[in-house]
Amino acid sequence: MALLLGDTAHDPTAATTFGTNRFDQVAPALQYAPARVLKTPAPARVDGDDLVAIVARFASAGRLWRPHVRHDPSARRYVRLAWAPDHEVWLICWSQGHEVDLHDHGGSAGAFIVTDGVLREEYIDAGRFRRRRCTRGAARSFSAGHVHTVSNPGPTVATSIHAYSPPLRSMTFYAPHAGTDLLATHVEMVSKRESP
Ligand SMILES: [Fe+2]
Repeated sequence: MALLLGDTAHDPTAATTFGTNRFDQVAPALQYAPARVLKTPAPARVDGDDLVAIVARFASAGRLWRPHVRHDPSARRYVRLAWAPDHEVWLICWSQGHEVDLHDHGGSAGAFIVTDGVLREEYIDAGRFRRRRCTRGAARSFSAGHVHTVSNPGPTVATSIHAYSPPLRSMTFYAPHAGTDLLATHVEMVSKRESP
């Protein structure tokens, strides 16, 4: 299966904002990414442990993502590092105070790892809101249906690598309603990417 590293095409249909920031803010970075096609075996669907392995492998291969790191205090920045029919990998750059609102991943499972700084994740587990601090090197996976918010509490910038399977198609955002009951506020579509 071919895995495309570096998404050179700015998809004009991209509509996701990943919360409060527009996808097209990262289009220049995508355009500069080198396109290389690797032949790599991949399962039909990637499970949580494999997603953790994927983000860990990317984290240890700085040449694949360090050139794309750019922290902008005005907005989080995103670069799609890799895409395959069964999963995709994103780099996200967070300045202090950046936060993505409470959201799910539209049926995709996922994993992320912090490569610089610290992130705070708040999520719902067994009917309770829980909070965890994600430090450098910390990776965690989540199943489809996971609802969380992620933020950079500072005091430094933070960088993280995220993998989703299948590739993200939509994200639903929520507002707490009563306890852990959630009220869906809006859905954002994520750009489709044709097979390379
Ligand atoms: Fe998320």
